[in-house]
Amino acid sequence: MGMPSFNVSMLLLILSLLSFLSLNSEAAPEYRYHFCSNETTFTPNSTYQSNFNRLLSFLTSNSTRESGFYNTTVGQTPETTVYGLFFCRGDLTPDECRVCVSTATKEVVEQYCPVEKVAVIWYSECVLRYSNKSFFSTMFQTPSVSLYNIQNITEPVRFTQLLGTSMNEIETKASNAPTGTQKFATTEANFSELQTLYSLVQCDPLISSSDCKTCLGIAVGNLPGCCAGKQGANVLYPSCFVRYEIYPFYKVQAVPPPAPTPVLLAPPPPKGKSRNSLLIIIAVVAAAVVSILLLCIGYYLLCRKAKKKYNAVPYENESGEITTDSLQYDFATIEAATNNFADDNKLGSGGFGEVYKGTLPNKQEIAVKRLSQTSRQGAEEFKNEVLLVAKLQHRNLVRLLGYCLEGEEKLLVYEFVPNKSLDYFLFDPKKRSLLDWSSRYNIIGGVARGMLYLHEDSRLRIIHRDLKASNILLDANLNPKISDFGMAKIFGVDETQGNTSKIVGTFGYMSPEYAMHGQFSVKSDVYSFGVLILEILSGKKISAFGQSDTAEDLLSYAWKHWSNGSYLDVLDSDMRDSCSRNEVIQCIHIGLLCVQENPADRPSMATIILMLNSGSVTLPSPQKPPFFLHSRTEQNMPTIAMESDKSSSTNMPTVEVNSDKSSSTSVQWSVNEASITELYPR
Ligand SMILES: *[C@@H]1O[C@H](CO)[C@@H](O)[C@H](O)[C@H]1NC(C)=O
Ligand SMILES: *[C@@H]1O[C@H](CO)[C@@H](O)[C@H](O)[C@H]1NC(C)=O
Ligand SMILES: *[C@@H]1O[C@H](CO)[C@@H](O)[C@H](O)[C@H]1NC(C)=O
Ligand SMILES: *[C@@H]1O[C@H](CO)[C@@H](O)[C@H](O)[C@H]1NC(C)=O
Ligand SMILES: *[C@@H]1O[C@H](CO)[C@@H](O)[C@H](O)[C@H]1NC(C)=O
Ligand SMILES: *[C@@H]1O[C@H](CO)[C@@H](O)[C@H](O)[C@H]1NC(C)=O
Ligand SMILES: *[C@@H]1O[C@H](CO)[C@@H](O)[C@H](O)[C@H]1NC(C)=O
Repeated sequence: MGMPSFNVSMLLLILSLLSFLSLNSEAAPEYRYHFCSNETTFTPNSTYQSNFNRLLSFLTSNSTRESGFYNTTVGQTPETTVYGLFFCRGDLTPDECRVCVSTATKEVVEQYCPVEKVAVIWYSECVLRYSNKSFFSTMFQTPSVSLYNIQNITEPVRFTQLLGTSMNEIETKASNAPTGTQKFATTEANFSELQTLYSLVQCDPLISSSDCKTCLGIAVGNLPGCCAGKQGANVLYPSCFVRYEIYPFYKVQAVPPPAPTPVLLAPPPPKGKSRNSLLIIIAVVAAAVVSILLLCIGYYLLCRKAKKKYNAVPYENESGEITTDSLQYDFATIEAATNNFADDNKLGSGGFGEVYKGTLPNKQEIAVKRLSQTSRQGAEEFKNEVLLVAKLQHRNLVRLLGYCLEGEEKLLVYEFVPNKSLDYFLFDPKKRSLLDWSSRYNIIGGVARGMLYLHEDSRLRIIHRDLKASNILLDANLNPKISDFGMAKIFGVDETQGNTSKIVGTFGYMSPEYAMHGQFSVKSDVYSFGVLILEILSGKKISAFGQSDTAEDLLSYAWKHWSNGSYLDVLDSDMRDSCSRNEVIQCIHIGLLCVQENPADRPSMATIILMLNSGSVTLPSPQKPPFFLHSRTEQNMPTIAMESDKSSSTNMPTVEVNSDKSSSTSVQWSVNEASITELYPR
């Protein structure tokens, strides 16, 4: 019986190899990054330190809880109180969680933050945070860091699309989990026959669903900026993180077992040959097991290699691998796709030219913007600017897919967004009712997130300059997508001769300083955003007011109701019964803050996101908006010259949402527990 004994020793070998592998995969937790501010430190051997040590030991001793997270507070007096929390990756067992938390509590004091009061440390398996201020149940967007795998992916454009779909799916899943439970989701998607995309998102279990959604939205929105074209990336915020790789870095949930192999399914062999076929089966199984093992080992080594090649990017991010060539479309293809720019396919005309719908041979629908030929920019420059703008990818931005150059002809190719633009619904007496309160509120939030991305993407910082209802497209689910951004870049606006190139702004949406003096900054976009909010609430066009005999503009209308406390009267009349009063008031409040005359008084987009997400932030009172738009004659002034980019960029306020060591302690929001109803008394 040589064969069976061979089989037994084979099995032993296999078992020992397997245990070797699993021992290794249970190795030490993988450190990712940490922040701790050296500006708030405690004195060694103080009461604070002893409380701090007790905190860490409580966290460790509570790390085998089934819930996978724990928060606690230690201290008698406010000065010596320490707050701490950890949460483990959602797929870990209590024992694995314990390993990570005890490593984190040990390493953070021994290696990274010996005397700092405020710290956050991320491992691949868990997050540990502590502070001398309570931070439970509050979303934090600072400090943050993104890490990426330096390996490039092939076909970055298709990969990014797949990634977007995957992230979208799991963001919703994770954020829908009830507060106080793990907010965690993963998914796998086939990229190619050999490559699978593994994606994971997770939030601090104590924050609300909407905070989780926002946090993940911002984190995912960062991916294209930091890590486009990379095989793996990880964006870390104190309250949430996202990660994707093309190897499994979490426990993939059980999939239905594959169909058994034909060998084992084969019908019982005719008698007499049974011994032979048994041997064959054993040999085949042994060979299969060995080759699977070899594959596993090879794969494991590959993964190790991939993991080592990680680069941290504390926020100045390198470009991905999209190239100008990969974005170029053939003119003949576009001509065919749009049926030779047939009038039937015309979707509209914007400030920069006419827009046509097209269908590529692969059935992909596109929108083609045929630029009016006034740009004096060279082809190379044009390509480079398109490349930069194409890298701006966010779910609330219309995606620029590429361009086409043919002689004097310049075309931009965009993703096609099915539902037309916001103004089409908002200002139509019949269609308006399709936008109920929750979709309007969702649109406001989506536009805010898209604008935040434009303003704060660290490489570019795009000022839109023409944000308005007709530049907000709606997808099939009425999610907003901002269009026409980056046009100043693509159009090659001359930065030294401010008066030669004209940029279209839209009267009514333009802030006073932009309309009168041509000064623009992120705060002029904020102004336009404020006008947009008030339009969305009221269903009234900013420009329609001046034309009626009442000669009252939208801003004075909103202000009047705000100061009278008749908040709901600002709303579209058919919506007053179905809305959330607090959300409405919050939106009017934000809208009025945005349209204040002094740009410095207007909130930044980051602040607006915070305001929208935490009902309990105390907002300053808005000041009366400027009423400079009254004169009717001015309304015929649709375009204005811009001042040079240079002078205005020096006036831009800097917003520190992303990273740096001190920012974890410099969050200025006076968050209190007062409910919104107390803030907005009837
Ligand atoms: C904090 O660290 C920075 C950089 O390491 C250093 O320049 C600074 O002096 C430190 N501040 C304090 C208070 O130790
Ligand atoms: C936290 O510690 C810093 C410096 O040690 C101190 O300035 C700050 O007031 C403390 N915060 C609270 C809430 O005690
Ligand atoms: C703190 O206490 C430890 C042991 O109790 C002692 O070794 C150390 O010197 C003390 N450090 C200070 C700064 O007093
Ligand atoms: C868990 O934490 C609490 C304080 O929050 C502490 O009293 C307790 O001893 C810790 N350990 C266990 C095992 O519960
Ligand atoms: C943990 O966080 C929750 C939610 O913020 C809070 O109500 C609770 O008091 C915290 N627990 C401790 C021990 O601080
Ligand atoms: C990835 O692509 C970038 C830009 O195209 C290039 O600089 C880099 O060397 C590539 N990295 C690898 C590992 O091939
Ligand atoms: C990925 O491909 C495998 C085999 O090719 C298939 O069994 C699996 O269903 C695919 N998964 C998805 C999510 O499409």
